[in-house]
Amino acid sequence: MIPDKAPVEKDLYHAAPEVVNGAHVPNFQKYKELYLQSTQNPEEFWGRIAKEYYWKTPQTGKFLDYNFDLTKGKIYIKWMEGATTNICYNLLDRNVHQKKLGDKIAFYWEGNDPEDCMQVTYKELLQQVCKFANVLRSQGVKKGDRVSVYMPMMIESVVVMLACTRIGAIHSVVFAGFSAESLCERILDSRCSLLVTADGFYRGDKPIDLKHIADEALRKCRDRNFRVGRCIVVKHLGVTEATGATDETCTVKASSDTSQSPPAKRSCYNLQITWNADVDIWWHDLMKEASDKCEPEWCDFEDPLFILYTSGSTGKPKGVQHAVGGYLLYTATTFKYVFDYKPDDVYWCTADVGWITGHSYIVYGPLANGATSVMFEGIPTYPNVSRLWEIIDKYKVTTFYTAPTAIRLLMKYGEEPVKKFSRKSLKILGTVGEPINPEAWLWYYNVVGNSKCPIMDTFWQTETGGHMMTPLPAAIPLKPGSATFPFFGVTPAILNETGEELEGMAEGYLVFKKPWPSIMRTIYGNHQRFETTYFKKFPGYFVTGDGCKRDKDGYYWITGRIDDMLNVSGHLLSTAEVESALIEHTSIAEAATVSHPHPIKGECLYCFVTLKDGHEFTETLVTELKDKVREKIGPIATPDYVQNAPGLPKTRSGKIMRRILRKIARNENDLGDTSTLADGTVIEELFKNRCKTA
Ligand code: WT7
Repeated sequence: MIPDKAPVEKDLYHAAPEVVNGAHVPNFQKYKELYLQSTQNPEEFWGRIAKEYYWKTPQTGKFLDYNFDLTKGKIYIKWMEGATTNICYNLLDRNVHQKKLGDKIAFYWEGNDPEDCMQVTYKELLQQVCKFANVLRSQGVKKGDRVSVYMPMMIESVVVMLACTRIGAIHSVVFAGFSAESLCERILDSRCSLLVTADGFYRGDKPIDLKHIADEALRKCRDRNFRVGRCIVVKHLGVTEATGATDETCTVKASSDTSQSPPAKRSCYNLQITWNADVDIWWHDLMKEASDKCEPEWCDFEDPLFILYTSGSTGKPKGVQHAVGGYLLYTATTFKYVFDYKPDDVYWCTADVGWITGHSYIVYGPLANGATSVMFEGIPTYPNVSRLWEIIDKYKVTTFYTAPTAIRLLMKYGEEPVKKFSRKSLKILGTVGEPINPEAWLWYYNVVGNSKCPIMDTFWQTETGGHMMTPLPAAIPLKPGSATFPFFGVTPAILNETGEELEGMAEGYLVFKKPWPSIMRTIYGNHQRFETTYFKKFPGYFVTGDGCKRDKDGYYWITGRIDDMLNVSGHLLSTAEVESALIEHTSIAEAATVSHPHPIKGECLYCFVTLKDGHEFTETLVTELKDKVREKIGPIATPDYVQNAPGLPKTRSGKIMRRILRKIARNENDLGDTSTLADGTVIEELFKNRCKTA
């Protein structure tokens, strides 16, 4: 239940008058009124919002039909039966033609190097998207086909995503930090017919040979008897196969030339790419010929929009599948209300398009609102630790959305690098990805936001598609570390272990009682896994996997994962996928991974390994194991600690008790209930072999 009034205590952060003036939801009463309407009459609430978008054919059947109860049959969610649309048409054509926003800037692109920037208007984006949509069609890509996208943060990534949606193809973006093995696994799982990648890119001063990794992934696919039709390569670093470097340095790309071969940006880097003429094609060669007119494919409200892989507790990533209509409505609406979007805003989300935050709040939500965004290729510490604040001043950013891990990283360098820049354009701040500790919240609020910008701590998941628990800038007084209240249409509950709903002050499992428009529809190719992962534990509810508590004022506080997942720098990993990488090493008999607190990453990986007989635990082995995980999953999964564990704590049935290992990693002696432990003697040895932790 939402309380009638917001609490008024002095330790809360209330919106300043300039935030309240003109806000879409100016106060708590208005929030509550809209919330009740959205949950009691979803048809009226979402129906009104749907009218702002273009539908090729209107809804004819039921507005909402669903089953959340596995004991009653298959899980399904269907909205607005009969309605057809195209999401790309709504994001681009509608904004260019009906809203007359053709000349408005859609993206300011800021490269890894500060000199390297460009901008693209709505009209230009539409042209590029139409051209690439035609390219895809000419390559034989049809409605329902999957297209893998393995690209850095560049405008072309957005072009590819929207071109797919224009022709009803399903994009599967794989974060460019994932390894060849991870990319291969994802291409195989979704049987992609085409891959789009880039020659390479820089992360700070580190060059990444993306094409090389993509080649290896495709080779691995071939080894497993699967071939993608084509690999389309965007020339981003500007090197050619033959000559490599040129003498031009850091040339600024002109705004509308993404179809041309872009000029070289570096003279210093000799990237050698291998060209496999039977698969590889240059992007610019294909774009030269393509027409910039392309009739959209009209899709059903429930047609698949995209797949995005997220870690699963079995170790095999889950292809989370979203649907066209619901994702449009929900990302657009959350973007508008949570960031209190106004037409003159300049919005910047620092996420990567390879994660759900990039999908929902760099691409779909902002474009659906006709917003102007900054898209940033670089990292917060290059060329110096003021980079983010410099960009905020450069583009007069009003709305800034980032992750707690970035805030904690920059906090380390003190206030001086922040205060070099005025940041006076800022109005609203946001965070996402993990619980934010009050210390980081206060620094973000006081130092970055000059104590005048409310912070939207948005709790959500790849699976939810958009914000679930979140403040609204003017309406909800803030408590540092709380994601506050549910967004419109969201019905949270807190359950105890036996599945009873807890009222009032309580702590337990966070679940949702009813569907919201952008709930995932299935796991690609495995509907049963969708049902068991999210609906089996508590019949009738969508289970988030997060713990949560409700305080005396009705505020929700996310306490973190309560399953076998861990959150490193805002990215979910499963203990199982890390363990299976470790076990591949010839010296390892068994492995168990737990989370350990980390001052910047939030959590990091602490691994226990049992060696095979006759093998020795050495520094070299530790390095090899870390490399193994990097190679299998990617750099984000690199373990911080690897401990020798001649024996692991297990139950009598042989299940590893990670709960106990977590305590050992943290050097906490109170192990709780150990009655199910089969052999207590392993514990002492484990404490003795602990890694020295920070
Ligand atoms: C998990 C989802 C949603 C986009 C980024 C991550 C954690 C996310 C918060 C927050 C506390 C949060 C949860 C969730 N999480 N946002 N504001 N406060 N925890 O997407 O990789 O699907 O991870 O991230 O544990 O379940 P994801």
